[in-house]
Amino acid sequence: MKIVIAITGASGALYAKRLIDCLIEQKAEIEIVFSSHAKEVAAVEEVQYEFPKSIPVYGDRSMQKPFVSGSAKYDAMVVIPCSMGTIGRIAHGYSDSAITRAADVFLKEKRPLLLVPRETPWNLIQARNVVTVMEAGATVIPACPSFYGNPQTVVEVVDTIVARVLDHLKVPHQLVKRWKQEEPQE
Ligand SMILES: Cc1cc2nc3c(=O)[nH]c(=O)nc-3n(C[C@H](O)[C@H](O)[C@H](O)COP(=O)(O)O)c2cc1C
Repeated sequence: MKIVIAITGASGALYAKRLIDCLIEQKAEIEIVFSSHAKEVAAVEEVQYEFPKSIPVYGDRSMQKPFVSGSAKYDAMVVIPCSMGTIGRIAHGYSDSAITRAADVFLKEKRPLLLVPRETPWNLIQARNVVTVMEAGATVIPACPSFYGNPQTVVEVVDTIVARVLDHLKVPHQLVKRWKQEEPQE
């Protein structure tokens, strides 16, 4: 499975780090692209990204990367965390950076595009942009962690979201207990 992971300047760098760690563990083939603001926010959040040298890591400006063309074969793209700015640009087809162009390509090629926005509350423009990207075929997985599994650490809280992303990518994992999984069914 070949996946593009885009990291933007929304809060929640740990979501991206955990997802990448899990995908590496599952031996998925990944390529990573950072928006210009992503590393700034990660620094504020004291999240350090370290990737094996074999993983291609790109900036957002140049289009010199394979996934900005529909002719290159990829299975899915995840934008995590996804800023509302990036959602807006995707919703309106800006295609002005590697991330927004790649998202445009995934939508036109009908390939899975998962967006993990982190913002609260939303204004009406943001809400409408989310509807627009959904109508265009994207799957929106808001970074709204769940607590019914009694997460005990920040990483466990983060993993409640990462687990949903992995489910949508159809990548096996054991990050979280599934609801009623270990109890007899009525
Ligand atoms: C510390 C910090 C936290 C931020 N958190 C968010 C956020 O949670 N959601 C969001 O949409 N934007 C957030 N922003 C604003 C984005 O970084 C900004 O809109 C940026 O232009 C997004 O560009 P990008 O999508 O190309 O990364 C944050 C900025 C900073 C400095």
